Amino acid sequence: MHQESLTEAAFDFSQYLERGRQLVEGQLAVYLSETAPKVLWESMRYSVLSGGKRLRAILCLSAAEAIAARENHSQKEVVEIVLPCCCAIEMVHAMSLIHDDLPAMDNDDYRRGKLTNHKVFGEAIALLAGDALLLYANQILLTKTPAQIDPAVTLSVASELCRACGPKGMVGGQVDDLAFTGRLEQVKIDLEAGENEVVELIHRGKTGELIRFSVWSGARLLGASADELAILSKYAESLGLAFQIADDLLDVTGDMKTLGKTPGKDLAANKVTWVTVYGEEGSRKRLRELEDAGLAYLDNSMFAGAPTNALKKLLQYAIYRSN
Ligand code: IPE
Ligand code: IPE
Ligand code: MG
Ligand code: MG
Ligand code: MG
Repeated sequence: MHQESLTEAAFDFSQYLERGRQLVEGQLAVYLSETAPKVLWESMRYSVLSGGKRLRAILCLSAAEAIAARENHSQKEVVEIVLPCCCAIEMVHAMSLIHDDLPAMDNDDYRRGKLTNHKVFGEAIALLAGDALLLYANQILLTKTPAQIDPAVTLSVASELCRACGPKGMVGGQVDDLAFTGRLEQVKIDLEAGENEVVELIHRGKTGELIRFSVWSGARLLGASADELAILSKYAESLGLAFQIADDLLDVTGDMKTLGKTPGKDLAANKVTWVTVYGEEGSRKRLRELEDAGLAYLDNSMFAGAPTNALKKLLQYAIYRSN
């Protein structure tokens, strides 16, 4: 069954994840080594360098590797080309977590097993660290992506990052999430009346867009064709939606120690999540469908011979992870 296929090659895959994590964290530490204003950089480092799965950065790297195999790029070249983008993605992601945890949003005290940014640095610095990370991410992407990449390509990647995280992407999704918080009963009534795309809309926006960008950008920087980008985007959309459904499930099934964040918050806040709307079984069923759909995209003949194994394992990891 689905879950076993992950454990079969668990050893190699965990090494693969570890390699990606080390590459990304090593470079993030370099980019974030500035010192003034002291409290700002400390706050930025606190959230960016505090662990995390680095899934989005690794997705970017894996998509790049899948395309690069055909182009005869060495491993080293691939890393040089996409590492600034991987780091930019993790900075934007950290920004989204800092802001998501603020009292005005989800009001969370713990993240990655540590106090949330605003609990340590105060709300003003947490807001500003988020702002700084968002802009610094684009600066890094635009100035550190190697000159061998056509500037028009780099620009298109930066522009797509802004779109994916902006009003029609992550920020829009976060606004929808907040708008529906506390309106769970109405959403369920609407669902029975046959109108309900609300949870899917929220999830695709707040979480799916950055994940889609992660895969798309890695492939784009390595010269993927429009057809390849379209199929990889479909795969990434399945993964992105599945990732947030799994997060919703973990809020119900996980514990503080494993998650590093307080479980049970979604129900307490009357949040519209896959679990609160469709139940645990409904969530697991959708995850299996998304797994099958995501894997099928990668089986497209367009990728015959390309190393898509890591992308397949990453999809299953996004679904069956424990934190
Ligand atoms: C948490 O993302 C926020 C969501 C979109 C659900 P992750 O679960 O990827 O967080 P880290 O980076 O591993 O801590
Ligand atoms: C977070 O969704 C989405 C973003 C941060 C953009 P959640 O609010 O469900 O994430 P957690 O559970 O706090 O990590
Ligand atoms: Mg939230
Ligand atoms: Mg939250
Ligand atoms: Mg959550």
